[in-house]
Amino acid sequence: MTQKQQLLAKIADKSALVAIFGLGYVGLPLSLRFAEVGFRVLGFDIDRGKVDALNAGRSYIGHISAAAVAGARARGFEATAEFARSREADVLIVCVPTPLDNRREPDLSYVIGTIEAIAPYLRAGQLVSLESTTYPGTTDEEFKPRIEARGLTVGRDAFLVFSPEREDPGNPKFDTRRIPKICGGVTQDCLEVGVALYGAAVDKVVPVSSARAAEMTKLLENIHRAVNIALVNELKIVADRMGIDIHEVIRAAATKPFGFVPYWPGPGFGGHCIPIDPYYLSWKARKFGVQAKFVELAGEVNRAMPGWVVGKLSEALGNRDKAVAGCRCLVLGIAYKKNVDDMRESPAVKLMELLVQLGAKVEYSDPHVPVFPKMREHLFDLKSVALSPDSIASYDVVLLATNHDAFDYVLLKQHARLIVDTRGVYTEAAPNVVKA
Ligand SMILES: NC(=O)c1ccc[n+]([C@@H]2O[C@H](COP(=O)([O-])OP(=O)(O)OC[C@H]3O[C@@H](n4cnc5c(N)ncnc54)[C@H](O)[C@@H]3O)[C@@H](O)[C@H]2O)c1
Repeated sequence: MTQKQQLLAKIADKSALVAIFGLGYVGLPLSLRFAEVGFRVLGFDIDRGKVDALNAGRSYIGHISAAAVAGARARGFEATAEFARSREADVLIVCVPTPLDNRREPDLSYVIGTIEAIAPYLRAGQLVSLESTTYPGTTDEEFKPRIEARGLTVGRDAFLVFSPEREDPGNPKFDTRRIPKICGGVTQDCLEVGVALYGAAVDKVVPVSSARAAEMTKLLENIHRAVNIALVNELKIVADRMGIDIHEVIRAAATKPFGFVPYWPGPGFGGHCIPIDPYYLSWKARKFGVQAKFVELAGEVNRAMPGWVVGKLSEALGNRDKAVAGCRCLVLGIAYKKNVDDMRESPAVKLMELLVQLGAKVEYSDPHVPVFPKMREHLFDLKSVALSPDSIASYDVVLLATNHDAFDYVLLKQHARLIVDTRGVYTEAAPNVVKA
């Protein structure tokens, strides 16, 4: 039997050992899903705290229950930081971070660090899949040569695919199983093995012709969102100047049964993907002598939003003979989007920083973030404020940054002196509500 036939047989009877590198928002649910369908799963992470928590049956991600982790443990899931154990694996899936560096250029250090850490243990008969979002060419240019340097021919001895993760954190309608999965192989045989693997765990696999096409597909999805969010953010500023409520306009336009998709403005953009991933494409495009103008412009417009919101807040306070300096401001919702605890790239944090720079006394309330977390660039020593009629009334202004369902918006409107609403929560005009 060829290496491909042997690996396909192991995938078919689920005797293949699946190793997942990076047990974060992407890698952990994927590990649980492979364990659920009957594979032995070995999870790798450099963060020993995560390894220990998982081995003890605990979860560190809000929407993943400890019961789900404990269930996977009972089915043989194990976490480890010993990379030498990757030689036990038949399938190696890489789900490590792909951030930007301080020049807003791709930082592939985690991805390259991972393939270099596992390279000494690579052997014939393995499938490597990269899931981290990245620019077209990463799989071919960074993974393939490192695998072949081990004396393995990709497509004959070992197999290599790119299969991007898709996730909508906090959306209960779509779990790992139900989200169709794109897969692109470095060769046709690589693709065949990749499709067999993911087909065992998700309802629908969508094959594309190459790893590059798969890498580009993921970037298109995220750029599509970044550009459309920027568009409605820009139109919000135009509509505001004209005295028009952009949320009313979008709701009306969304009644068109074809050719219109509603996107909603906000205080900026956040999360691990939308503010970051588009720059992976614009950076690579420059290497080909092409400028991705929409991508750059969308980033510019979205990054300017917190400043515009703070300007509106300052104007609203000014109309009440108050200044930002010295005012007490409560930021409502600091996670990057509603009903999640994920703070990554949250525009609420940028708002807090801008307000503090202007001399405001800032506190926050967010039931999903009880204590302000340690973040790479931001440090606030704050705890979430409990909302009560008295606490709400004690602030000069409540800045509604993230519209969690858990907030009592009626109570807030009854007791707040001033609400600056960046999410269009309040549809009726009210003397103490200003939209921004
Ligand atoms: N979060 C999402 O919603 C989402 C959705 C689609 C795609 N992605 C992409 O998936 C990738 C991972 O994102 P995430 O949100 O899961 O990140 P994350 O930060 O939640 O998790 C990454 C994990 O990788 C670990 N890690 C770092 N270097 C490692 C190494 N060398 N070996 C093993 N583990 C290592 C970290 O300790 C961390 O636990 C990124 O490329 C991201 O763009 C994320």
